[in-house]
Parts: sequence; structure tokens; C-alpha cells
Amino acid sequence: MRNAIVIISLSLALPAALAGEGSRKAPADPLLQQECGSCHVPFPPRLLGETAWHKLMGSLDKHFGSDATLDPKTRQAIEAYLVANAARQERLGTDGQSTLRITETAWYQREHDEVGRAVWQRPSIKRASNCAACHSQADQGSFSERQIHIPK
Ligand code: HEC
Ligand code: HEC
Repeated sequence: MRNAIVIISLSLALPAALAGEGSRKAPADPLLQQECGSCHVPFPPRLLGETAWHKLMGSLDKHFGSDATLDPKTRQAIEAYLVANAARQERLGTDGQSTLRITETAWYQREHDEVGRAVWQRPSIKRASNCAACHSQADQGSFSERQIHIPK
């Protein structure tokens, strides 16, 4: 089942790659997609800094109220990928402190400030971390402006 999902996602991501989207919008790493894309979309590594990724990967047993534990080898491989592709500087929250939540970073809040408060509360969206509600290709790691459709 998981393999099928990965294959389908990769073939869907191809047209975007051919359209010259550039490496920033390259499809998510297959291992990240498989292990971190089952409960939510595989969040792009560039949206958090190195310190945050190390902290997050070091506490997968207490992952935002979930248990996302991985075997040590898989965890190390994913952590290495995340850190290698992390934001150059630590992403800070609106309080100026490092945060493990992309949605709490000043960058995220600024990028999404045009989305009205009532929109976030729609049942079709519910939470800011539900990227796929608006970014139709988020499950493949792509957040291009052209693929944004805010649901009613
Ligand atoms: C067992 C399910 C599960 C798995 C597997 C999982 N997560 Fe999560 N993750 C969650 C839940 C639940 C939340 C909190 C969602 C919320 O409160 O909006 C979350 C939140 C996050 C957030 C913060 C999102 C935000 O609000 O900005 C990040 C970053 C994240 N996960 C990364 C990962 C990474 C990296 C992996 C793979 C190593 C992973 N997750 C695997 C369940 C999971
Ligand atoms: C309610 C709908 C909605 C949700 C949910 C949402 N976004 Fe967005 N996102 C937008 C809109 C609208 C923009 C702004 C497009 C513009 O004008 O540049 C945007 C912009 C972006 C951009 C910049 C795109 C570009 O090419 O300039 C990124 C990256 C992004 N979002 C990532 C995320 C991530 C990661 C999540 C989940 C943690 C998320 N978004 C959740 C609606 C949403």
C-alpha cells in the first residue's frame, strides 16, 4: 500500500519537474515521504532550521501528542536528509524563539497573512498544519503558487 502511494506520487510529480519548477520544488525524498507523509504531508526540510530538525527527530516518541518512533537507521537517514536541506538560518517563532512548528514561525505567519481568520476555521481546513487542504500538490512536497486552491 505504502509503495503504491509513493509510485503514484512520483508519477504525478513528474510534469511539475519537467515544467522547470527548479530544485526548490523537487519531490520529497522517498523515505521522508513514506515515513513522515502518512499522518500529514511530508513537510519540506527548508521550512525549519537544523536545530529544530535535530530536536524534533530526537523526540519522535513524544511527537505533538503522537508516537512517531522509527527504527534508529531510518531515523538517522531522515534526520540527515532534513538537516542537509534545512533552512540556512534557524526559523524563529513570532516570539523570537526557535520553534518545532512550521506554522508558528514568523515566516509562515507572514506568508499566509492574506488568509482570513474565518477561512482557517472552515471544516475543510480546520488547522494551519493541514497544508494539503489548500496546496493541492503538498503531498509531493510542492507548494507552488499556481497549485493553491482554497477550499470552500
Ligand atoms: C503517527 C503520526 C505521525 C507521524 C508518523 C509523523 N507525524 Fe509529524 N505530526 C503528527 C501530528 C498529530 C502533528 C500535530 C498536528 C497539529 O497539531 O496540527 C504533527 C506535526 C508535525 C510538525 C509540525 C507541523 C506544524 O504545526 O507546523 C512537523 C514539523 C512534523 N510533524 C514533522 C514530522 C516528521 C519529520 C516526521 C517523520 C520523521 C513526522 N512528522 C511523522 C503526527 C505524525
Ligand atoms: C488556508 C489555505 C492554506 C493552508 C492550510 C496552507 N497554505 Fe501555504 N499558502 C496559502 C496561500 C493563500 C499562500 C500565498 C500565495 C501567495 O500569494 O504568494 C501560501 C503560500 C505558501 C508558500 C509560498 C509559495 C510560493 O511559491 O510563494 C509556501 C512554501 C507555503 N504556503 C507552505 C505551506 C505549508 C508548509 C503549509 C502547512 C504547514 C501551508 N502552506 C498551509 C494557503 C495555504
